[in-house]
Amino acid sequence: MTILVTGGAGYIGSHTVRALQRAGQSVLVLDNLVYGHRDIAEAVLQVPLVEGQLGDRVLLDQLLQGRHPLLPAGPVQAVLHFAAYAYVGESVTDPALYYRNNLGDTLVLLEALRAESERRGAQIPLVFSSTCATYGIPEPDQIPIRESTPQRPINPYGRSKWMVEQLLADFAAAYGQPSVIFRYFNAAGADPAGDLGEDHNPETHLIPLVLEALAGRRAAIQVYGRDYPTADGTCIRDYIHVSDLAAAHVLGLDRLLAGGAAVGESGAAAPLIYNLGTGRGYSVQEVIAAARRVTGASLSVHDAPRRPGDPAELVADAARARTELGWQPLRSDLETILADAWAWHQRRWS
Ligand SMILES: NC(=O)c1ccc[n+]([C@@H]2O[C@H](COP(=O)([O-])OP(=O)(O)OC[C@H]3O[C@@H](n4cnc5c(N)ncnc54)[C@H](O)[C@@H]3O)[C@@H](O)[C@H]2O)c1
Repeated sequence: MTILVTGGAGYIGSHTVRALQRAGQSVLVLDNLVYGHRDIAEAVLQVPLVEGQLGDRVLLDQLLQGRHPLLPAGPVQAVLHFAAYAYVGESVTDPALYYRNNLGDTLVLLEALRAESERRGAQIPLVFSSTCATYGIPEPDQIPIRESTPQRPINPYGRSKWMVEQLLADFAAAYGQPSVIFRYFNAAGADPAGDLGEDHNPETHLIPLVLEALAGRRAAIQVYGRDYPTADGTCIRDYIHVSDLAAAHVLGLDRLLAGGAAVGESGAAAPLIYNLGTGRGYSVQEVIAAARRVTGASLSVHDAPRRPGDPAELVADAARARTELGWQPLRSDLETILADAWAWHQRRWS
């Protein structure tokens, strides 16, 4: 049986493909390569790659029904669904793109899964990449954020993810579609082997931007706001190593394949929902200081005004993933994240 990984040529998807391969699974990647990397899939991971759009129902039916020539081990047994666009600013200027791609394409996937499940008489479980952006701007007394914290996303990207969560809840209740929803906090770091890592273009995440500045590939790093109600005035985020995220997916998949499910308030089936973070936040200032220490390099820091929509603090309560899935982040201390990311970037830039 094959595990289908949508968005598997991207950052978190590619690390999860590796984790699945190490767990002995046969994997096939579906990616439109708008942001994914063919060489990572084909040369580094050596995983079959179908270049295509998630919303292509004909293609999905071929894959799910086991009729596609690239399927490595027969019909799809489960889907890990990473494929999405994830630029908050772009989602504000072009919301139609985000609702079509992140929400509309996921609806096509869910309808295809439903049809194939009916045909087989067996469900095909799904693991979905959601985000702490679905929580919006939590009140200070809601930190650390639990899965039960109210979700009030404040931009179309966050809303597109929140809406998919609603789809999954409704498909679970009505059709019994099994799913895990992982709400990631800030993914960072790179595979310790050094041949996989973060390569977004454009890059908007703090750690790769800081490392680019430390490597002299960027003139300076901007710090957006020093007047937040935090110890040093800069924003606090919960950074989680991408390999630890990948490991959580293998555990979530195992749970679903073993028949794990949640029960919603109405008594009907519901998605299993887990925050993925460390529970420890670091400020922008602390990240910059740690990156200086880890790399031994220096960089220019420029102060800039706050960006609209940036909460002061986003830190996860991830106790549920630890207790229910037995998940244990192993590489998510800040220095290891930075050292792994630095090794990957050095190799990439050499
Ligand atoms: N990076 C983070 O810190 C973070 C945090 C929270 C949630 N997420 C979510 O995790 C997932 C993966 O994020 P990432 O950082 O690896 O992003 P990424 O851009 O590196 O990977 C996403 C991949 O999906 C592909 N894709 C997008 N839409 C598609 C479609 N309709 N059909 C086929 N392929 C499509 C892209 O080409 C890309 O390869 C996304 O769903 C994102 O919203 C990421």
